[in-house]
Order: sequence, then structure tokens, then C-alpha cells
Amino acid sequence: MFELPNLISIHDLSRQDIEVILDTSAKMELVAVERSKELSGKIMATLFFEPSTRTRLSFESAMLRLGGSVLGFADIGVTSAGGKGETLADTIRTVERYADVIVMRHPLDGSARVAAEFSKIPVINAGSGAEEHPTQALLDLYSIRKMMRRIDGLTISLCGDLKYGRTVHSLGMALSKYDVKIKLAAPEALRMKPAIIDEMKKSGLDVVEVDTIEEAVRDVDVVYMTRIQKERFPDIREYDAVKGEFRITLHEVGMMRNDAIILHPLPRVDEIDAEVDATPQARYFDQVYNGVVTRMAILSLIFS
Ligand code: NCD
Repeated sequence: MFELPNLISIHDLSRQDIEVILDTSAKMELVAVERSKELSGKIMATLFFEPSTRTRLSFESAMLRLGGSVLGFADIGVTSAGGKGETLADTIRTVERYADVIVMRHPLDGSARVAAEFSKIPVINAGSGAEEHPTQALLDLYSIRKMMRRIDGLTISLCGDLKYGRTVHSLGMALSKYDVKIKLAAPEALRMKPAIIDEMKKSGLDVVEVDTIEEAVRDVDVVYMTRIQKERFPDIREYDAVKGEFRITLHEVGMMRNDAIILHPLPRVDEIDAEVDATPQARYFDQVYNGVVTRMAILSLIFS
């Protein structure tokens, strides 16, 4: 029996749960076009304490395509939390009286779990600090399955900011439930958290760490590139020291297999050269659309 009271961490999901979400996402491809009334009368609140384009808008698009309604904020400056010092607990106790589900992004690790503890309505984590971004990982898995027709058996490179990047943390944990080979490619100062490497290895994955982008793109099926998370660096000089170190240009694409794909959660800064966008390997803008159907599936399952 599939139950999804909240979606805070990939650790809340078994592989079977993930497969249900991916299968439901596939069914949502047609519903997304035809629209439905499945969630008519339901209200989704989006509480975004941090900037977002895709995550918030794709959740809103997903809810609207299912016939539901949306309210929320995307600028904490206009809220009592930003302007008056209201606590997260009190914000949640308020919003739960206005909506049926909360989708929240917050700069602090652990914030989504705290919100779920105070909330009487389901909470979906749309990014908690540098910790996790589980719905992004689900849309990433859905994208891989849709584009490569499988996940098991693939070799996947996770590249860029593996220290502060919450999307690669959730994706790494999710891939631990599959039979894949992993390459981790990051500047020395931004290597993947040891706990996640341990989790992948304990699950039996073959994990190698490489130091160059050339090694990351060679002989793999999927290159998952990420942005250096400038806003999470305690000291901007540390950011300046690593920025621009890992970049995909036409040179790197030339080293990739013809049928390999490049994904990126977006936004990108300069880690993928604009010239790469026109190559067949560049699939990150197709990946964006998959966020709509995956989030339709998550909302549908939360309310089922
Ligand atoms: C990511 C995030 O917010 O963690 N963006 C997204 O949700 N697609 C990645 C990023 O900001 O670099």
C-alpha cells in the first residue's frame, strides 16, 4: 500500500515507492495535455523562502493541470517571516488553515522536517538548505528512464558542486536504490559528502571519484552537471577559488558517447557552454518539462 503523508527526504521512499511515482508520472503525460479535475477543490500553498523558477512554477502548473488551486509567496520580504520575525512553526500553523498541502523551500537544512512536524497537512520539500531536494531527484530519475529507457545498468556522472548541491544529494541517495555505476566529479573543495558515498557503496554501487571533467564525461550514459552553489559558501573567496573549474564545452561533448545525455537541474551559470545547447546530448530543457508530470504524480499520490 503506497502512502505518502509528506515528502521530505528520498529516505522516506522505497525503490517500489519511487517506481510507483515514475509510473504515475508516465500516466500523467496525457493528463498534462488534456487536463483533469482530479484535485478540484484542493488548495496547494507554495512557501518559497528562497529563489526559484522551475520548482515553484512547475508545482503550480502541475496543480492547475489537475484542477486544483494555488496560493503562496515567493518573496519572504512580503511575509511576516521576513518582515516581522515570525517563526517557521507559526507560519506553518497559519498556512495549514488556508490550504490542503504545503510545498516549501527554505534555506535551512532540516527545515522541511520541522515544518512537517508542526503541520497537520502534508508537506512537500522543495529544497531544504544544502541538504535535499527530493522532487528534483524524482524528476531526474523520470528523465533518465524516459530518455534512456532504463536506469539499472547505466553509468552516471554526478558533476560540479557535490558538497552544497542538494539535488545531487537527493539523486545520489535515490540512485543507491538502483543498480548503476557512479562517477563523482567535483573540485577538491566540493567533493560529495562521505555519508552519501558510504550509502551508495553500502548499497553495492560501484563508485569512483575523478578530478577532471574529461574523465567525468568519458564512457558514461548520463552526465548530471550542477551549478556551483555560490549562495551557500561561508566565504566568497572560497567560491572565487573554484568557480569556472568544471565546465562542459563542445570539447567535452566531443568526448562523450553519441547516445549519452547531459542533464542539469538548472539554473546554469557558466558550467555548460551555451554552444552545447544545440548538441543532441543536451537534454536539460527537455528535463524541465518532466518536472510538471512528476509533480502532478506526487500531488495526485499525496491526495490519493
Ligand atoms: C536547484 C536547487 O534549487 O537546488 N534548482 C532547481 O530546483 N532546479 C539547483 C540550483 O539552484 O543550482
